[in-house]
Amino acid sequence: MESPFKKNILITGGAGFIGSHVVRLMVNNYPGYRIVNLDKLTYAGNLANLRDVQDKPNYLFVKADICDFNAMLRVFEEYRIDSVIHLAAESHVDRSITDPFSFAQTNVMGTLNLLEAARRSWRGSNLFYHVSTDEVYGALEFNDALFTEETRYDPHSPYSASKAASDHFVRAYHDTYGLPVVISNCSNNYGPYQFPEKLIPLFINNIRNNKPLPVYGKGENVRDWLYVEDHARAIDLIFHRGKTGDTYNIGGFNEWKNIDLIKVMIKTVDRLLGRKEGESEKLITYVTDRAGHDLRYAIDSAKLKDELGWEPSLQFEEGIEKTVRWYLDHQDWLDNVTSGDYQQYYKKMYGD
Ligand code: NAD
Ligand code: TYD
Repeated sequence: MESPFKKNILITGGAGFIGSHVVRLMVNNYPGYRIVNLDKLTYAGNLANLRDVQDKPNYLFVKADICDFNAMLRVFEEYRIDSVIHLAAESHVDRSITDPFSFAQTNVMGTLNLLEAARRSWRGSNLFYHVSTDEVYGALEFNDALFTEETRYDPHSPYSASKAASDHFVRAYHDTYGLPVVISNCSNNYGPYQFPEKLIPLFINNIRNNKPLPVYGKGENVRDWLYVEDHARAIDLIFHRGKTGDTYNIGGFNEWKNIDLIKVMIKTVDRLLGRKEGESEKLITYVTDRAGHDLRYAIDSAKLKDELGWEPSLQFEEGIEKTVRWYLDHQDWLDNVTSGDYQQYYKKMYGD
């Protein structure tokens, strides 16, 4: 029987932070596509992130592990998958330092399983879209030029090494088997539904709860921040109009030194909670630096702008304000994801 849908798209990792924004955008904007969200629901995956789309007729959830090759073959057949947007991954650098094996397993072997399942059951000329990170390019000094699509891969953390390896496999499947692929490498994302182990939601939650803010090293490392919905819009655009076989960098030309960003968060949370300006600066606590801590990430997304006309829609101050408000208004979501395993993780990372 013919599928009643124009496309049957497999989105992996759709219950995670970025994945949930991509799923929401695709389900709402393209009612003619069937969106199959495949997720293992690790500690980082949460179906509560998708309550508003769970009953839509073009949305379907499958709980599965991308490391299970036979399960992937079955999913491609059963749902007649013709395109993939692959986001499922272990994504936190700190966890990759304590447990590198699970990063190789999920990010490398899981990606390889999907590529092979896609190759064996490919229907027509659609796309395998791999969502990756700018961390594969390594670290910049303060005065270095930005990462471009031509920058040599030079990953340092087990996380970035695993993402680099998966990028290489994706290109290998294009070059060897002719699988139509595209890759995007994005800078640090922030916004609603991010698991509070990453800097921005962790610190908003701690400021709110008057808990210490563990700043690694001197707080001088630089990250380039992009609002998550702008990333999702870029993925939509590249999925539909990107050139097969190409790579696109995604970023907002928005570099912040960690300590400066932390002060903006403190100011915003204090203001919104009616505290005295800067009251929570006393929570800043300098702690031992992360092992192999990359000094600076900064990405040049000019290609995406020039070729596909993408630009970030939000100024950073606006994005941070929206984000802080969201976390303050969704204490139930935070309480839910920070119960259970999170407590053990927090204790192991930061002590009591
Ligand atoms: P996340 O950790 O919030 O979500 C990852 C999702 O993948 C979760 O829902 C989890 O349950 C799922 N998952 C993990 N292992 C799985 C497995 N074996 N099988 C099936 N599902 C599994 O991650 P995120 O921040 O949303 O990142 C999504 C993707 O974007 C990742 O590939 C990451 O490398 C990439 N990326 C992230 C950022 C960022 O700033 N967060 C920036 C650039 C690229
Ligand atoms: P993170 O959100 O983990 O993203 P990434 O390591 O992928 O860039 O960290 C962002 C920056 O914040 C990074 O330089 C490490 C720093 N950081 C802290 O100083 N303290 C923390 O508790 C965390 C989680 C991160």
